[in-house]
Amino acid sequence: MEANSLSGKKVVVIGGTSGIGFAVAAAALDAGARVVVASSRQASVQGALKRLGDGAAGFAVDVNEEGDVERFFGGLGPFDQLAFTAGDWGASLGAPLRELDLAVARGAFAVRFWGALAVVKHGRRTIAEGGSITLTDGIIAHRPFKGAAVNTAMLGAIEHLTRALAVDLAPVRVNAVCPGFVLTERNTRLPEDLIRGFTARLPLARGGAPAEVAEAYLYLMRGGYTTGQVLLVDGGGSVV
Ligand SMILES: NC(=O)c1ccc[n+]([C@@H]2O[C@H](COP(=O)([O-])OP(=O)(O)OC[C@H]3O[C@@H](n4cnc5c(N)ncnc54)[C@H](OP(=O)(O)O)[C@@H]3O)[C@@H](O)[C@H]2O)c1
Repeated sequence: MEANSLSGKKVVVIGGTSGIGFAVAAAALDAGARVVVASSRQASVQGALKRLGDGAAGFAVDVNEEGDVERFFGGLGPFDQLAFTAGDWGASLGAPLRELDLAVARGAFAVRFWGALAVVKHGRRTIAEGGSITLTDGIIAHRPFKGAAVNTAMLGAIEHLTRALAVDLAPVRVNAVCPGFVLTERNTRLPEDLIRGFTARLPLARGGAPAEVAEAYLYLMRGGYTTGQVLLVDGGGSVV
């Protein structure tokens, strides 16, 4: 069997209006796909569509609102590929356990875990049988540090969700990308010494480009015999 081509396919990227998701949308367009991006703020959808140009459509969808997600997929029609990259930057990251506010800790799961599940729940009804879903976690799942227990657990939960959904939804394939430190819009604004602190020990001692991470999503979309897998794109950080 040939690898799946993305040419002419409909690729949906939830969280595709900035950062990694935007790079996935741009790469899918380059590969000849029709792309639909969605995120919670209309202004970011409009900004992304302007930058993506022809072949892209976009909608405002808040993944915290299941009704919003259901309406989005109800109006979308059949599609081939789904990438979920929506994420917020939970306040619990870095909080020592003794100061942990459990309500904030629960909130860390809202967009990235429960939001992903809402999107899969409603998106699976109209995804093509030969299609695939790619979720997103993060390297802290494999490299916890002090104060990041909640985020480590949340990201690990996404990896286990991926494995379970690959069984549940087969023959639709379900995989995840696990990025290391990526130079998205938000991260490029960080002080240089902080960026160096995150990246100096890596075999590839720099932040990843969003386009380099997007390659992993495109591989998982095309790779018809790959399901239930987590692909680390971390500059080699997990091996040192
Ligand atoms: N960048 C990194 O170094 C890195 C490393 C490891 C893991 N990750 C993970 O990768 C994912 C993407 O990261 P990124 O750096 O690309 O982030 P980003 O640039 O902040 O993009 C996040 C996207 O999610 C959307 N979003 C946020 N809340 C939403 C909601 N409630 N409903 C729908 N869309 C929502 C945002 O758009 P709106 O504001 O319009 O909603 C935006 O399009 C995140 O889960 C992040 O944790 C990133």
